[in-house]
Formats: sequence, structure tokens, C-alpha cells
Amino acid sequence: MNTKEALLFVLEEQRGMYVSGEELAKRLGVSRTAVWKAVNSLREDGFDIMSAGSRGYRLSAESDLLSSAAVQQALKTRVFDVRVVPETGSTNVDVKALAERGAPEFTVVASELQTKGKGRLGRSFYSPQRTGIYFSVLLRPKLPVTDALFITTSAAVATASAIEEVCGRQAGIKWVNDIYWQDRKVCGILTEASLDLENGSLDYAVLGIGINVSPPEGGFPEELKTIAGCLYPEGGCPAGTRSRLLASLLDKFYELYIHLPEKRFLDEYRRRSILKGLNVNVIQGDRTYPASVVGIDDQCHLLVSRDGQLIALDSGEVSVRPIK
Ligand code: BTN
Repeated sequence: MNTKEALLFVLEEQRGMYVSGEELAKRLGVSRTAVWKAVNSLREDGFDIMSAGSRGYRLSAESDLLSSAAVQQALKTRVFDVRVVPETGSTNVDVKALAERGAPEFTVVASELQTKGKGRLGRSFYSPQRTGIYFSVLLRPKLPVTDALFITTSAAVATASAIEEVCGRQAGIKWVNDIYWQDRKVCGILTEASLDLENGSLDYAVLGIGINVSPPEGGFPEELKTIAGCLYPEGGCPAGTRSRLLASLLDKFYELYIHLPEKRFLDEYRRRSILKGLNVNVIQGDRTYPASVVGIDDQCHLLVSRDGQLIALDSGEVSVRPIK
């Protein structure tokens, strides 16, 4: 941790209270001038830090920037190395680059803004500034390629459960990887894997999650208006929510991930599934056909009935739209 990060860590610990320059210098093992410089640099990044003479510095209780310090403090699991950047193209691309350079498992990159957010099936993911959480986790699972889907499905359960815990929203899962609340998509998940061709296992995987927390300035773009939603549609998201949500999600995901072969997530995945019993259109390339959803099998295939025939859909190239 550099001085700036360490300073933010202490201020975050005492959020809303003053910490004297002298104490900060002592705890950080640096001069008071170095503290002052780090405070200014954090202010330039947008952190709301007040100063009051001899009382020192205080991080405003309302300050709502995503920060590595706030996430680390809220985390119960100590394995994650969370880095927060103000802006990037795509956190999935960043983490992939880190993976190629040998970064350890559980390295996390989160960004306040993505300019080239990636979605499933070659789509883009709208990631406007400071209204969402956009992050990717590097995983190095010892899993056969056939089980890679369980990373995404367990992450969907962790996300829905964290949203419920931190924001009090009963989130549902739309097979295979979308999180819905009040009929709107509030989160998408994209897992990208690198294969080890020699032994047919995963070399590494990048789990990318984007959550819409507050309404974007000016609203969602026209093409997303009828689909996308956010967790606080009227605004008023309490300060610190995004950091706490990210920490809770990572904690919950870790618990499911370390037991992945046992598929502990499966019951909750089924329970939260919003498609069960619905009539849907199955879209497979340029083919579309109506079917009704029966359930989810142990491989996380979606089971649909079409003209009395049971079909297990693989998530690969299929999307499913409820018929309203
Ligand atoms: C989808 O809904 O199609 C999946 C969206 C996944 C978006 C997240 S945001 C963080 C990470 N970085 C990306 O570029 N994409 C994922």
C-alpha cells in the first residue's frame, strides 16, 4: 500500500470523524507534509475530505467514491486484492492482462466507469460513471472446462444474495447470468476463460460483473430503457453502499467458489430463477421457437418443453425471452 492508499484506509476506518495530522503521520510512518500531500491528491481524485486545524482530517460520512480501502474494510474474506481505478475500457480486459502477467488468483479490478464494457454474445455493457459497480475477479480454478459455467451461476447467486443483504431488494436470476429486480435487468455477468489445451482444464477465468446501482445521469440510453433498471431507481442510494455491496458479493462468492464441485449454489439458483413456469421464446442464432420453462438441471441447463419434448438448453448461444 502506498501512502495515499494507507491514508484512505485510516480515514475510511474513522469515516465521519477527525483524525489529527500527527496521528496520521505516526500510523503511516511518514512526515506530516507527506500526509498533507496525500490528502490533496485524494481530494483531486474526488474524495470529500474536510480539514479543521489541529483536529486534523475527516472523510465525509457522505463520501461515496468506490475505494479499495472501503471494500477491504467491509470484506470478511482476506484473500482478495481489490484495486479501484477511476476509469478504464473494460475491467475484464484489464484482469486478463494481469492474468497473463502471472497475477495471483482473487486479484480484483473495479472501475468507476468503463468506456468499452463488454457484455455477453459480443454485446457491450453500458457502464456510466459512479452509478454502478463494474469489476472483474481473476480466478485460477482447478476445474474441467465443462464445469466453467458454474463460476457464472454461483456468481449470480452471490450477487442476488448480496443485493438482498445490502440493499434489501429481492433479486431474481434470469437464466443464465442476468439479475433482475422489479422486472428490470440490474446486473449482468460475463465470465471469460483461457483454456489449458494440454489437459483440457481452465488456465484461468475472468469473472466480470456489472451492477446498476443508481440511475445514470439523463437516464438509460433509448435501446436499454425498456430492459435496464437499477437498485435505487429514485436515487438516494446511501453512502458507502457500493463498497459494501462489492465486499458482500465477494465474500459470498468466495464461499460458493471454494466448494464449487459440491454445487452448493444450485438450490438457491433454482429458487431465485424468474423463468420457471413461464412461456418463452428460445432464440438460437437466427432460429426462434416458443417453449415453456420446466426448470434447471444439475448442469445448469435450462429445461424447456417444446411440443411435449423436453430439451436441455446450453447457455452457449441461446437466449430466452419471456412471452408477455
Ligand atoms: C451481460 O449482461 O451481457 C454481461 C455484462 C457483464 C458486464 C461486466 S462489467 C465488469 C466486467 N467488465 C466488462 O467489460 N464486462 C463485465
